[in-house]
Amino acid sequence: MMKALIDRLRKETVLSKEEYVLLLSHITPELSEYLFQQARTVREQWYGKDVYIRGLIEFTNCCKNDCYYCGIRCSNHQAQRYRLSEEEILSCCESGYALGFRTFVLQGGEDPFFTCQRMTSLIRRIRQQFPDCALTLSVGEKSREEYQAYFDAGADRYLLRHETANDSHYRKLHPETMSPENRKRCLRDLKEIGFQTGCGFMVGSPGQTVENLAEDLLFVKKLQPHMVGIGPFIAQHDTPFRDQPNGTLEITLFLLGLLRLTLPSVLLPSTTALGTIHSRGRELGILAGANVVMPNLSPSSVRKKYLLYDNKICTGDEAAECRSCLERRMEAIGYHVVVSRGDYPTIKTK
Ligand code: SAM
Ligand code: FES
Repeated sequence: MMKALIDRLRKETVLSKEEYVLLLSHITPELSEYLFQQARTVREQWYGKDVYIRGLIEFTNCCKNDCYYCGIRCSNHQAQRYRLSEEEILSCCESGYALGFRTFVLQGGEDPFFTCQRMTSLIRRIRQQFPDCALTLSVGEKSREEYQAYFDAGADRYLLRHETANDSHYRKLHPETMSPENRKRCLRDLKEIGFQTGCGFMVGSPGQTVENLAEDLLFVKKLQPHMVGIGPFIAQHDTPFRDQPNGTLEITLFLLGLLRLTLPSVLLPSTTALGTIHSRGRELGILAGANVVMPNLSPSSVRKKYLLYDNKICTGDEAAECRSCLERRMEAIGYHVVVSRGDYPTIKTK
């Protein structure tokens, strides 16, 4: 019965909310393995055994928001704040380029210091110096005009997790200053402007139900993003959610498999959070249908300060070590890290 649902999902690329709930409520190791086999077959039709790498530069941990789950929320006075200078960011890109990265992801808190003018000047410099690279931004909610300015300056991709598609669940994870409507408005604007757009959600965030996860799957089906970033929620000791249980490996992997069948050609990262809850989490994510990894290119001196959650991995390593470590890990499971921009299959490069 459950396997037949997975077969139908593979064929029709969507199920009803009730059917997704049914699958998510009947996860067994056997069913998971069946799902992952199907997901790998679909993934290999689009991407073969290639794994795309993105160089993640966590350029500021200052943030004006106060999301209850996040270790760099503005109310966390234990966080040691930093922001990288334009020169430091460019030097991360330079070392990344030498290591074979052709996508840079600039991620940070919503830091008012990085005004539209500062961001666009940074984007232009990166675009000028690395014309053959893709530039992804992940800096939160902005006005449509600001997103348009980033795009015109040369950014190609934008990651903004919707966090949860259910509005009342969203309100349990965020203070009143943030709204699910605005989050969704941002995603629509980003797509309309022409960014390769990524949404995503945490698995096992406080208050989340299997119904909510089914809603997330239907939300991504409708939005048709180019990328979907998911990872387990992991408690951070200085946040209001410090005592909440972490998301599980089992459910996160199962969702990766379902996402691969729901959006067959989507760019799907196997995230650092997955590598944090299990020592082979990133490999298992790839084997469940993911096709992207995002090693850290931030300077080692700031890595321990970008602590979104507890026990984050790779905070003591150099970029080169992370790159070669991931390459070895991927080779060990029969996949290969490739040097390319790694665009969504139907997108032409700028
Ligand atoms: N400020 C940008 C934004 O809001 O999109 C980007 C940075 S934000 C820290 C990146 C992502 O980290 C969030 O979208 C959230 O899903 C994830 N995150 C934050 N706290 C987390 C936690 N405790 N466990 C797992 N993921 C977390
Ligand atoms: Fe950073 Fe392995 S990915 S040490």
